[in-house]
Order: sequence, then C-alpha cells, then structure tokens
Amino acid sequence: MGVQLADKIVLVTGAAGGVGRAVAARMAAEGAKTVLLADLAPEPLAEVAAGIEASGGSAGSLVADLGSAGGCAELVSRVADGYGRLDVLVHTAAVPNSPVDFLSVPDEVEARGHNSFLVDNMNAYSCKSLQG
Ligand SMILES: NC(=O)c1ccc[n+]([C@@H]2O[C@H](COP(=O)([O-])OP(=O)(O)OC[C@H]3O[C@@H](n4cnc5c(N)ncnc54)[C@H](O)[C@@H]3O)[C@@H](O)[C@H]2O)c1
Repeated sequence: MGVQLADKIVLVTGAAGGVGRAVAARMAAEGAKTVLLADLAPEPLAEVAAGIEASGGSAGSLVADLGSAGGCAELVSRVADGYGRLDVLVHTAAVPNSPVDFLSVPDEVEARGHNSFLVDNMNAYSCKSLQG
C-alpha cells in the first residue's frame, strides 16, 4: 500500500475523531506525501498533525465546518489553492448515531438542522469539483 500512496495528497475529514484520526495516522505511515486533516476542532487537529509530523510524516490542519455545502466548497477551494490537487478523500466527519429520516433530506442542506452523519457524508459531493 505504501507505494500506492507515495506522492498522494490525502484529505481526511473528521480527522480529530476516532476513525478519522486513525485513518490519517495510517495514511501517513503508509507513505502519503501529505495528509490534510479537516475538522471543526482546532486543538485536537493540531495534536493529530503533531503526531504525524513526529512520526516523520507530513500533515496540514484545516479547520472547517463541513455541516453545509458551502463549508465543503470552501474546504475544497483551500485544498485546491494550497496543494493544487486532491488524490484521496476519506470523509469521516460525522455526528455519529444521530437519528435522521434520510428520505426527508433535501438536495441542498444545511446540516446544522439535521445534525447527521448522513447529511455530512452527502456533502462530500461538493468535493467532486476537485476531480481530475
Ligand atoms: N467508531 C466506530 O467504531 C465506527 C464504526 C462504524 C462506523 N462509524 C462511523 O464513522 C463515522 C465517524 O465515527 P467516529 O467514531 O470517528 O466519530 P467521532 O465523533 O469520534 O469523530 C467525528 C469527527 O467529526 C467531526 N465533525 C462533526 N461535525 C463536523 C462538521 N460539521 N464539520 C467538520 N467536522 C465535523 C467531529 O469534530 C469529530 O472529530 C461516523 O459516521 C460513524 O457512524 C464509526
């Protein structure tokens, strides 16, 4: 796997949380060129970044609110402006175990009102502008 991640720019959302933190550290250990860490919470993000750097990896912290399409779009712009491309997206930003009626979620949502991992994950589609 290390060879596959060499020279790759990886973005992990929810990187301050359980799954995201573990995935980010593993991606760095597997040789990703840069692991970008996105989350609401600056302090834990800095902690995760410091851990990756201390292990010889390269990390960048991006504080972002991905609870809206606008927040996702802004994050994508920052990645594009700062790094020029995105090779791998791992989208784990979530509010786990939040009840939601997924059939009621509109195409364009402000997730604050739904507070749901499903909504956050749907907003990953905002990232498609980085394809190619
Ligand atoms: N932990 C598990 O064992 C497990 C197992 C299967 C699936 N999952 C799923 O994986 C996902 C992540 O789980 P976890 O345990 O890492 O959760 P977690 O709560 O530990 O981490 C989620 C992270 O998302 C961030 N976040 C929440 N809202 C955000 C927003 N609007 N913008 C940016 N960041 C935001 C939080 O700050 C947090 O750091 C969830 O969808 C969960 O249901 C988890």
